[in-house]
Amino acid sequence: MHETLIEELTRTIRAIPDYPKEGIVFRDITTLLQDARAFRRSVDALVHPYIGIGIASVAGIEARGFILGGAIAHQLTIGFIPIRKKGKLPADTVSIAYSLEYGVDEMEMHRDSIVPGQKVLLVDDLIATGGTAEAATKMLQEMGAEVVAACFVVDLPDLGGRAKIEALGVPVRTLVEFE
Ligand code: PRP
Ligand code: ADE
Repeated sequence: MHETLIEELTRTIRAIPDYPKEGIVFRDITTLLQDARAFRRSVDALVHPYIGIGIASVAGIEARGFILGGAIAHQLTIGFIPIRKKGKLPADTVSIAYSLEYGVDEMEMHRDSIVPGQKVLLVDDLIATGGTAEAATKMLQEMGAEVVAACFVVDLPDLGGRAKIEALGVPVRTLVEFE
């Protein structure tokens, strides 16, 4: 019988209780990435609305946003901008602090990775509180990027992340939701 994309994602994304902290159910996409068909279908579904609309770059958030964002950029034949945890990028950077479901952190991007007005698609594997994607969006916008959309495989809607990104004027797309 035909398996819908949502069924396939629900089957291939694994839940790890109490990781990285007690009380967190970690949604692990490594099992999705190991499944060639699920990986291909996820990337195809994420890419589809963004074909031919003038997006210049994917900005991918370390670490799992690199895997999906790299595949999406390749498929759209556009460039890739890494948004990394503090201290990892070699050239002149801009940075922003943020909090997420299980902690606080700081992210950076290269100062010369955006030209004003550049259309960017923000990519990560998952949105929970939205703290990570909100910080990335603000940093990109402050550098002059037009963040055309943000897309994720997984949404944890109970944590309210989507509204934070949409409040910045950026439409959000996700493929599957978990409680
Ligand atoms: C995870 C996930 C997102 C972020 C979402 O990354 O890949 O980037 O958390 O959480 P939020 O919506 O509450 O901000 P994590 O910070 O665990 O880093 P990693 O990808 O390097 O493991
Ligand atoms: N990032 C923030 N919350 C998460 C969760 N529950 N599973 C995976 N990544 C996350």
